[in-house]
Amino acid sequence: MQTNENDFEMKVNIKVVPPGPKGKKIVEEDTEYLATSSKSLPIVAKRGRGVYIQDVDENVYIDFAAGIGVNNMGHIHPYITEKVQEQLFKLWHFAGTDFYYQEQVDAAKAISSVTPGKFKKKVFFTNSGTESVEAAIKFAKVATRKQEFISFIGAFHGRSQGSLSMTASKGIQKKYLFPSMPGVEHVPFPNPYRNIFGIDGYEHPQELTNAALDFIEKYTLKMYMPPENVAAFVVEPIQGEGGYIVPPMDFHKKLRKLADDNNMLVVMDEVQAGFGRTGKFFASEHFGVEPQIITLAKAIANGLPMGAVVVDSKLDFPELGLHSNTYGGNLLASVASKATIEAMKKEGAVENAAKRGKHLRQRLEELKERYDVIGDVRGIGLMQAIDFVKDRRTKEPAVKLRNDVEYKGFQNGIILLGTGESAIRLIPPLIITDEQIDEGVECLEKAIKQSL
Ligand SMILES: Cc1ncc(COP(=O)(O)O)c(C=O)c1O
Repeated sequence: MQTNENDFEMKVNIKVVPPGPKGKKIVEEDTEYLATSSKSLPIVAKRGRGVYIQDVDENVYIDFAAGIGVNNMGHIHPYITEKVQEQLFKLWHFAGTDFYYQEQVDAAKAISSVTPGKFKKKVFFTNSGTESVEAAIKFAKVATRKQEFISFIGAFHGRSQGSLSMTASKGIQKKYLFPSMPGVEHVPFPNPYRNIFGIDGYEHPQELTNAALDFIEKYTLKMYMPPENVAAFVVEPIQGEGGYIVPPMDFHKKLRKLADDNNMLVVMDEVQAGFGRTGKFFASEHFGVEPQIITLAKAIANGLPMGAVVVDSKLDFPELGLHSNTYGGNLLASVASKATIEAMKKEGAVENAAKRGKHLRQRLEELKERYDVIGDVRGIGLMQAIDFVKDRRTKEPAVKLRNDVEYKGFQNGIILLGTGESAIRLIPPLIITDEQIDEGVECLEKAIKQSL
């Protein structure tokens, strides 16, 4: 593989205060030609290697956003790149939903082999997280012949009409867009830091779980959404866009029991937390549950667009034509996904996420001791966040400070991404080393100091 011309020194190096002159020009053009989306930092990338990104002005950053939790094996991973390069000269696309090829079967086998649950599974391939959630909605409706859904306050499941109806993490995501899919109700997620039940969630995790489930049983299912109408709960194992909220460890098991008791399914949305990020292949494994329907995307092909729904084979569509698409299981993405899983296993990436996650957590806890604007450090493995507050007692979100830290971080050489109202997520590639974590935390600390 010829890559030398694209190599650069893998070390944070800010040569011109970003955005530099070339970067500024591209940002201007982007603003002129691209529709408004959700841009957060004016970083203009040119190359990537491992955990580093070089911008168009030759600045080098350490990447603690990983393309929103996508490039888990790092940028331009040699083995995955080689496999995709081989495929590039064979065949790109052949419509895997209508015709057949080995590469799609191989990707499905590889994904099923790492998915929790001893039961037989089937995979439906999509191209993104939101499409995976749309497909999961159909699996649940068809399997139960019920139409309604329950999701959680703070959830993010995507932005197409079905998944948008389940999203509830920021008002702007729904502004002017009503109605989306009808028949979805949101219930409180057991958030240990800022919960609406008035229970000290960290001290009394079981009480917090019980309060959340009582709400569903005593109000939602009893008063306005009878279980006979409800196909499924749609839930993230750890809320991602909602602020990296880790529920109490007994929550998902009890939610599943409530679903089973009422002939409802649980769709576990692992799009952000899954695929090794938390130090296990799937975040639901930390909670001891084996989901019947799992939605995936982001990291499963290390940066080629791919999503998947993995279902208990008993829930497979009973007839041809109930659901399909054009690009699902695209050859390049299928090859990338299988190679990603092989590389993850060979390099122990999941174990590395667990070990390095502990180191990152310790470094963040140290920051919390030094800066009382950090109200909370939370997460599992390499899915960590720090939450900025105006006052630790009231936990009032320090939104401007969070935004300033993100921006100053960028100018100091670390790529960061906010989450929730006032938190910053720290989600580097899973192949990161302790030394690289220290390099990143140093940039982050400089950014905090400069923002106070
Ligand atoms: C949990 C979860 N589900 C679904 C999605 C939507 O994925 P996509 O942006 O690929 O449509 C996201 C995206 O952040 C997510 O975090």
